[in-house]
Amino acid sequence: MSGEEVDEGGSAGGAERADGPTETPSDPDVPRPVFVADPEAAAASESAMEVCSRRGHVAAAGEALLRVDEVVAGYLPGVSILNGTDLYADEGELVGIIGPNGAGKSTLLKAIFGLVGISSGLVRLRGEEITNHKAHQLVPRGVGFVPQTDNVFPSLTVLENLEMGVFLRPKRFRERFDFVAGLFPVLAERRSQRAGSLSGGERQMVAMGRALMMEPSVLLLDEPSAGLSPSMQDEVFFNTKQINQTGVTVVMVEQNARRCLQICDRGYVLDQGRSAYTGPGAGLIDDPKVVELYLGTLGRAR
Ligand SMILES: Nc1ncnc2c1ncn2[C@@H]1O[C@H](COP(=O)(O)OP(=O)(O)O)[C@@H](O)[C@H]1O
Ligand SMILES: [Mg+2]
Repeated sequence: MSGEEVDEGGSAGGAERADGPTETPSDPDVPRPVFVADPEAAAASESAMEVCSRRGHVAAAGEALLRVDEVVAGYLPGVSILNGTDLYADEGELVGIIGPNGAGKSTLLKAIFGLVGISSGLVRLRGEEITNHKAHQLVPRGVGFVPQTDNVFPSLTVLENLEMGVFLRPKRFRERFDFVAGLFPVLAERRSQRAGSLSGGERQMVAMGRALMMEPSVLLLDEPSAGLSPSMQDEVFFNTKQINQTGVTVVMVEQNARRCLQICDRGYVLDQGRSAYTGPGAGLIDDPKVVELYLGTLGRAR
């Protein structure tokens, strides 16, 4: 089965099946990945991916643009969803996060963006701590977030949605609009149309465009291809790569794991609130353990 065939589900649903519970390490018959303290043990693995280790993470993360260290976070007191998650994104990187349903991928993005409380651990932007900073503080500092759902104002026009994106710096509207229209020409054509009347793919462009209006240094994208037709999914992955190529660092969560790993510089496999594996996208996609444990039939069928 090729990658194209895999996408025929037409939405994240196709990938969800492949990532489903029977193929994840929550199955008692499937071995859990080992979290090793010693990076040499990870290096000794014949596999292309690396098992995440604290020392390995700390050494590699350095002065990353965005850095998450041992973050514990959740929605209810005493119930943590993220259990010591590590992640970093270097300036200009496109980082993908994949993992089974319920692994905490969305929670991780929300925790970075101040929408879920972090009880311990650190989030840093250019070395400065932003742990538990709220969205309104983060946006002016260059963090953009596109949630998976409800990410446009449906009753507002495309233009008004984009204006909302830059309301903190209205004088920059024209310049930023030209930038966004350069990436998504269809948004300029449809500027007077209500966002709610657009196709799913076009709405996703409005959502990304709105986040780009504030000229973010790092853009957090939660499942941008979810629910879209295969051709629109292609466009979203193409657009994401294009955005990254303009210099924006991108951290993208995707259920469409294979496609995500194909375009990202580096991927993370998140499992049960921890970063289980990391490595170059191409390395992870070909790694037998990642395929077996996380990509399931999606990966095996290649
Ligand atoms: N608003 C919420 N309140 C309580 N629990 C939540 C909420 N959102 C998600 N969760 C729980 O957090 C866990 C991780 O969810 P999520 O981060 O959405 O996973 P993923 O994006 O990897 O599929 C799941 O067990 C989910 O039920
Ligand atoms: Mg999610």
